[in-house]
Amino acid sequence: MFTVTLNQSGRQFTVDPDETVLEAAQRAGIALPYSCRAGVCGSCKATLVQGQCSYPRNPPLALAGTSPRQHAVLLCQAVPTSDLVIEAREVTSVEDIARRQLNVIVAEKRVLAPDVVGLVLQPADGEPRLNWLPGQYLDVLLDDGRRRPFSIASGPQASGAIEMHVRHVAGGGFTSWVNDSLKVGDTLRIEGPLGTFVPREDAERPIIFMAGGTGFAPVKAIVEHFLDLGTQRPMDVYWGARSVADLYLKEMARGWEMRAPLRFHPVISDAEQADGLRVGLVHEAVLDDHPDLSGHDVYMSGPPAMIDAGRKLFLGAGLPEDRLYYDSFEYAPDVLAQILAGRAGVIE
Ligand SMILES: Cc1cc2nc3c(=O)[nH]c(=O)nc-3n(C[C@H](O)[C@H](O)[C@H](O)COP(=O)(O)OP(=O)(O)OC[C@H]3O[C@@H](n4cnc5c(N)ncnc54)[C@H](O)[C@@H]3O)c2cc1C
Ligand code: FES
Repeated sequence: MFTVTLNQSGRQFTVDPDETVLEAAQRAGIALPYSCRAGVCGSCKATLVQGQCSYPRNPPLALAGTSPRQHAVLLCQAVPTSDLVIEAREVTSVEDIARRQLNVIVAEKRVLAPDVVGLVLQPADGEPRLNWLPGQYLDVLLDDGRRRPFSIASGPQASGAIEMHVRHVAGGGFTSWVNDSLKVGDTLRIEGPLGTFVPREDAERPIIFMAGGTGFAPVKAIVEHFLDLGTQRPMDVYWGARSVADLYLKEMARGWEMRAPLRFHPVISDAEQADGLRVGLVHEAVLDDHPDLSGHDVYMSGPPAMIDAGRKLFLGAGLPEDRLYYDSFEYAPDVLAQILAGRAGVIE
């Protein structure tokens, strides 16, 4: 058993054999950042100040291109082979909220866009309502033990309602079933809250939000949180999609402009389906409008390619890495593990 020390706070926890640093921190009630839990998104990247670790599960793909001199470590995959000292962002705001499993009933199902379904879930009879921070996600637990992660599109509600926006992925087992067969009144089992994509309120800097597709769900929850607080922080909300029809809540987002110093920027990638809206890639629109990001906080959520581009280009535009918060909508951890195992096989 090895001990991990967090350099900044001095907090310590022990790691069982074969356990990752992230799993051990969660067991100890310490929240370190993560999103995909599969080694590909880079949310959990930290600095290894002292000690050594191995990667017996998935290869640490998100460290590709990182110089060894940066001593970077991926907490969701790293298994210590000695005591460690690491420098990682601690997300203490999520630590007080217990994660638990519960049954929920589908209270509403409606078509939001050609391939997006909106769901409202309610705790089943006798289940206490779930608590979470805006921006967090939950896992839907499938009968065979697999999990499918989905962001919660609202803050916690007194009614217990949990809102989700589910995109139907081609060939996807769960999202096809949601699209074709799930009915109002059906029961799902979920676990949550999960994730560390949550509002940071320690500064008055202007904020840029960037969403791609259903990445709008957690961004909506976080923006609504800031609006409810009555924030005076300038906010720019960019939402990218292929066609106008995919911006399924754009009128609601336009309405936010009345409530705060907020500007909403819809961006369409397919020029033939733009219907007069701005055309291009959403991360390029952010950079065209804000070539210097050194004075901003940035929250982004959506498809891995958009997140990857944002990570590289926004840091290049002066954004400090510790002010970039994101959830990458990767496939579920079991699917990624299979894909990566296949790749590792090819490399060997
Ligand atoms: C933190 C987080 C939050 C998310 N939030 C949302 C959200 O709010 N809304 C949303 O719409 N999505 C969200 N996602 C993405 C969502 O979880 C996935 O779209 C979902 O898990 C797909 O499940 P599925 O069972 O339908 O697809 P799967 O059956 O898992 O398959 C997905 C795709 O991968 C392919 N595939 C499966 N196995 C393999 C393999 N071994 N090799 C190669 N390809 C394979 C399939 O053919 C299919 O095309 C989120 C993801 C994360 C990580
Ligand atoms: S790389 Fe570790 S959470 Fe995504």
